[in-house]
Amino acid sequence: MKKHLLLGQTLGFSGDPFINDWADVAHYARHGGVLIEGTKISVVGDGATLRQRHPDAIVTDYGAALISAGFVDAHMHYPQTGMIASWGKQLIEWLNTYTFPEEARFADPAYAQDVAGRTLDLALAHGTTTLTSFCTIHPASVDALFAAAATRNMAVVAGKTCMDRNAPDDLRDTAQSAYDDSRRLLEAWHCKGRATYAITPRFSPTSTPAQLEALGVLWAENPTCLMQTHLSEQHPEIAWVKNLFPTARDYLDTYEAYGLLGERGLYGHAIHLEPRETLRLAEVGAAVIHCPTSNAFIGSGLFDMMGLATAGLCIGLATDTGGGSSFSMLRTMAAAYEIGQLRGAALHPAQLMWLATEGSAKALHMSGEIGHLGAGGMADIVILDLASTPAIAQRSARADDIWDAVFPTIMMGDDRAVQDVWIAGRRCAQPAKNPKA
Ligand code: GUN
Ligand code: ZN
Repeated sequence: MKKHLLLGQTLGFSGDPFINDWADVAHYARHGGVLIEGTKISVVGDGATLRQRHPDAIVTDYGAALISAGFVDAHMHYPQTGMIASWGKQLIEWLNTYTFPEEARFADPAYAQDVAGRTLDLALAHGTTTLTSFCTIHPASVDALFAAAATRNMAVVAGKTCMDRNAPDDLRDTAQSAYDDSRRLLEAWHCKGRATYAITPRFSPTSTPAQLEALGVLWAENPTCLMQTHLSEQHPEIAWVKNLFPTARDYLDTYEAYGLLGERGLYGHAIHLEPRETLRLAEVGAAVIHCPTSNAFIGSGLFDMMGLATAGLCIGLATDTGGGSSFSMLRTMAAAYEIGQLRGAALHPAQLMWLATEGSAKALHMSGEIGHLGAGGMADIVILDLASTPAIAQRSARADDIWDAVFPTIMMGDDRAVQDVWIAGRRCAQPAKNPKA
């Protein structure tokens, strides 16, 4: 089995820095080493010691660069790659004006293949080794993403977006066809290679109760699948849900009533939660996914990171492109920090790095497998140059510990900071546009 030894600064986690003191669960080494055997990490330890013990390993010395688990984006929309950064609308108008017309183009499988490949290459160039995506209502859009992920050996979570009302004619399925198509797709892709299927009702305004119920049945029949949707993103959306579901106790209840609340549920945004919703999400162990650049860009509101973490919720971090305005999980961490500050809580760089790796992996029920720089984890790794621009370099030069050195890259970094990426034990050719190793 091929052995690789990566040398550099290493950073990994053995626990949740929102529950424990970050200093107890963050593990940093100035001269660390990551031994890869085959597709997995076998040891993380002292670089010189590993070099001595494994003279047969192929060594890549990254010097002062930071070796971390690859970033895990827990919620995005690959079909929106082409219309990211579209001006001037809030959620419902933004969907109708920009998003739905773009998603209609995915009726053409060749277009879907083109955007799927482009999106994954953009993700890799930004150090994202796993993404979780909504597709469109077209089954071929799901095939396109999973096929593109398989050729890159990437772990990807995705599902057919289901909508049978309040969407244009060419973007509507039915309760039955959503069930049938989703079932066919999950049978074709779920747990095949590195693919994970997520049953995907877009959000309750675009699904009839009959469709929500059909997808709840499908989830009960296939409980190892994830389920992804949106929850409590904007006030007009919440008012619309109230109108459409007059007997529901709250927004979450529109999912709960139809079997769409569960431990493997991923609820994007979750900004304006009622106390009952927070309690129920914590009780069932579901995950909420924070999408901070999107929340600022679409004007949704300020996610309550500390309140929800204290309530015991599982929280993932995500770009939500193209509602989100960046493919970069560094920029996403920066936005999470800024939203935290606006709510009076400064997230520590250890908490931000944990959210972008381990936290998202935990939300996806893939703890220890992805987002983890430790023995047994898949060797999906990002190497970050902590001096990638003159502005960042002059700031990190005066840092006196790793957190002060990494924080300028979190706040000001982008794809230029991504020096290298490894996927399943192989150096990824595509993003090595900045080969400093
Ligand atoms: N709610 C329903 N669909 C979407 C979407 O595509 N993006 C965002 N941000 N919110 C949504
Ligand atoms: Zn979304």
